[in-house]
Amino acid sequence: MSDAFRQYLRALPDFPEDLPEFNPDEAPDDPAELFRQWLREALAAGVPQPHACSLATARYDGQPSSRTLILKNIDHDGWHIATSRSSRKGRELAANPRAALNFYWPPQGRQVRVAGPVVELSAEASAADWNARPGADGSDNPDWQLYAVHPLEIEFWQARHDRRHIRHFYGPGRARDLR
Ligand SMILES: Cc1cc2nc3c(=O)[nH]c(=O)nc-3n(C[C@H](O)[C@H](O)[C@H](O)COP(=O)(O)O)c2cc1C
Repeated sequence: MSDAFRQYLRALPDFPEDLPEFNPDEAPDDPAELFRQWLREALAAGVPQPHACSLATARYDGQPSSRTLILKNIDHDGWHIATSRSSRKGRELAANPRAALNFYWPPQGRQVRVAGPVVELSAEASAADWNARPGADGSDNPDWQLYAVHPLEIEFWQARHDRRHIRHFYGPGRARDLR
């Protein structure tokens, strides 16, 4: 049975035929600009929620956990996400204010990874985010918190059929291309 499942998984579809070209030498200096471009292209390619990402946090003892969240904004504070402070991730961020985000856009074989320290944004900004949610009924939720992941590392990854996948890295100091 486990052998059959292994073979079943092995036979599942790979990256689609029509992958975009990506030349890191022509990438903008600002990773947020490249991200906005890839997000727009993912939406145009039919990704239903291109702003959904996996958020990884870790407990005080290092045990990681992850789940899907919606990206709310990118500004000078960082990459915004929102959740309940009392949730598992809220408690983990209180104990260990570091996180990693991961976006995956299958039609294009593209992944974006973002990691760094996390700060809590203001109560006003958190309330505004709560009230802007679909289905908001005007009620307060003091447990709702907007956070910003300050990007120490951002990696753009583009799949290629020849398996020479392209990794374009923005980190401390100058942008580095890790192809
Ligand atoms: C597409 C999608 C988007 C989601 N967006 C959010 C979000 O923005 N904030 C949030 O708190 N939970 C969101 N969730 C639910 C989380 O994945 C998670 O189940 C919940 O927040 C509890 O996580 P925790 O127990 O690890 O704290 C989303 C789930 C999905 C599938």
